[in-house]
Amino acid sequence: MSALLSVEEIHAAYGLSRVLFGISLEIEEGECVCLLGRNGVGKTTTLRAIMGFNPPGKGRILWRQRDITGWSPHRIARAGIGFVPEDRRIFAELTVEENLEVGARAAKRPGRWTIETVSELFPILRERRNQRGGYLSGGEQQMLTIARTLVGNPDLLLLDEPSEGLAPLVVHALSQKIAELKAQGLTILLTEQASEVALSLADRVYVLEKGAVRFSGPASALRDDKALHDRLLAI
Ligand SMILES: Nc1ncnc2c1ncn2[C@@H]1O[C@H](COP(=O)(O)OP(=O)(O)O)[C@@H](O)[C@H]1O
Ligand SMILES: [Mg+2]
Repeated sequence: MSALLSVEEIHAAYGLSRVLFGISLEIEEGECVCLLGRNGVGKTTTLRAIMGFNPPGKGRILWRQRDITGWSPHRIARAGIGFVPEDRRIFAELTVEENLEVGARAAKRPGRWTIETVSELFPILRERRNQRGGYLSGGEQQMLTIARTLVGNPDLLLLDEPSEGLAPLVVHALSQKIAELKAQGLTILLTEQASEVALSLADRVYVLEKGAVRFSGPASALRDDKALHDRLLAI
């Protein structure tokens, strides 16, 4: 079986400052994979490279065996990759419903996810549909951002640190939603700094350090081996 997404030895930089040094990773259809690593190791840059916001200076990115390196973010989204950035860019002045309508209008891919079906997955969004985005809690904003991306019906969902800045109970609720998406067959690549969410959701993990893959393997390898886990991730 060949991978849905293959990232092959990508290098990336911001100006003269080099940030990624030959990152490779693969995701099969239906998998949930997590990029783990401390602040500043290159997780966001890797997702932005996949999405076409920071095209890699070296290396290539294959989507369904097709080389998409250098494609525009718009074209990559149209090809089926959806991106939920870490800064949750909702429209604060628009209502929840209007935010979802913007997502639905931008989406050119029909499919199972509509404003109706995402509101079934996230009932809180239906309850809050007339509230402005800016008045939502952090967890609700994160759910709205995910919902807005889902209405584009991506085949792969990139989630950048979905639990960042959320209270433990909210993180738990959000993890359950992501688990539901996974159970429904959506392929997911997420990033996290701490392993809690990652190890509860991911089938496989890649641990990054200084712009390179330091470890890759099944999530169970880190769950079962505390010494390995702490060596890779303890602050
Ligand atoms: N826009 C930028 N300009 C310059 N350097 C950046 C920029 N964004 C990130 N960096 C640097 O690139 C490195 C990797 O950042 P990032 O990919 O955001 O890491 P992570 O998501 O793992 O925290 C860090 O050293 C960070 O300071
Ligand atoms: Mg980041």
